[in-house]
Amino acid sequence: MLSNKHKILIVDDEPDVLDLVKDIFEFDNTYNVFTAVSGEEALKIFEDINFSLVLSDQHMSGMSGIEFLEEVKKISPDTIRIIMTGYVDVANAVQAINKGEVYKYITKPWDIDFLRTTVNRAVEHYEAIAETKRLQMDLQRANTELEFKVKERTKELEDSLKKLTEINFELDKANNKISESYRALVQSEKLSSLGLMAGTIAHDIKNPLSIISGQAQLVKMIIEPKSDLHKYVDSILGQVTRITKLVETIKNFVRKSPETNTEEIDLRDAFSECLVLTEKLLKMNNVAVSQDFPSQIPKVRGNKTKLEQVFMNIIQNAGQAMEGLGGELKIRCALNENKILIELSDTGPGIPDEIQKSIFTPFFTTKAENKGTGLGLSISQSIISEHKGSIELESKIGVGTKFKIALPIIVN
Ligand SMILES: Nc1ncnc2c1ncn2[C@@H]1O[C@H](COP(=O)(O)OP(=O)(O)OP(=O)(O)O)[C@@H](O)[C@H]1O
Ligand SMILES: [Mg+2]
Repeated sequence: MLSNKHKILIVDDEPDVLDLVKDIFEFDNTYNVFTAVSGEEALKIFEDINFSLVLSDQHMSGMSGIEFLEEVKKISPDTIRIIMTGYVDVANAVQAINKGEVYKYITKPWDIDFLRTTVNRAVEHYEAIAETKRLQMDLQRANTELEFKVKERTKELEDSLKKLTEINFELDKANNKISESYRALVQSEKLSSLGLMAGTIAHDIKNPLSIISGQAQLVKMIIEPKSDLHKYVDSILGQVTRITKLVETIKNFVRKSPETNTEEIDLRDAFSECLVLTEKLLKMNNVAVSQDFPSQIPKVRGNKTKLEQVFMNIIQNAGQAMEGLGGELKIRCALNENKILIELSDTGPGIPDEIQKSIFTPFFTTKAENKGTGLGLSISQSIISEHKGSIELESKIGVGTKFKIALPIIVN
């Protein structure tokens, strides 16, 4: 069964044959039949109508059937082309079939059933080809759609991946911040319990200390002026002073007063005061100092004594690190947006990696007993964070150490 009413064209220069064939194919209303008496006329009809099949006589005045079908092939390659020919012309028809110009030939005189069957089969073939083409086109369209969808999806995935990477980066940053805050918290927890302890200890220690000190002074008064015992008593008095100082340092350290006693500080002044106080140590250790400040240096708000304590400690550490070696201490200030960056770099021996993480821990020191308490940098760190700033370390063995401090500047 054919799926719709196909248009077919019959071409023959004998009107009787033409009428007969037309009647045959219009008989059961299967086809919409058109006729032409010559190839030339038929080609004209082709200009407006698309045919499923064309059935042409070979012997016609003017164009031969095969010539006509060659033309049809050019203008409508899908149309099925059948030639009707006498026995004498079979060889030509076969050649035309081999060349692909003609689908089939029918020899005259034909049998009506054979003619109908041949044409029906040929139109079925036409339908099959049309259907295959349609399916191919559908497939191609689906393929294009699929490719488009894949591209879209890939892009979506890429975007999501980019977003995820960004989120990951933010998470990493947040994580680092949390770790930093946690470290600071642990540090301040340690320090505040230390403060409580220090307060109690200071109180309990002060009395025995004054008794030891008083009694040592008494002994000093009693013993012979030239006696060797003086050096032992002096040593006792020296150690008592050291313990008293240490307890005082700890008490001061934990007694935070971030908002009180703040003023506008000119860093150039602050550093020149610190350098006066550390001049002796630096000279003794052959340390040359260079300063690099911008001509207009904005002030910072803070507690001058405390900030100077930070600078002093870093300068002293640098001086001590270069003891016996000599070297250079560079103090550099620079502006970065709303922050002032202070860098103190020395050309000392540098701090080994495994020690770097401990240097801000209270009581961590690599210095001899009477040279350092190990509180300098932990106090410095808490002073800087009271000032809403940051302090970082960069150090390389054999090259030197750099402390980088960032402090907010005063915005008018
Ligand atoms: N510029 C530096 N070069 C090499 N090592 C340093 C430097 N600054 C600090 N350090 C190391 O960090 C440790 C801790 O320093 P911190 O200032 O906290 O304590 P300290 O100097 O040992 O004692 P204090 O400050 O009480 O005199 C030092 O003992 C030293 O090992
Ligand atoms: Mg120190």
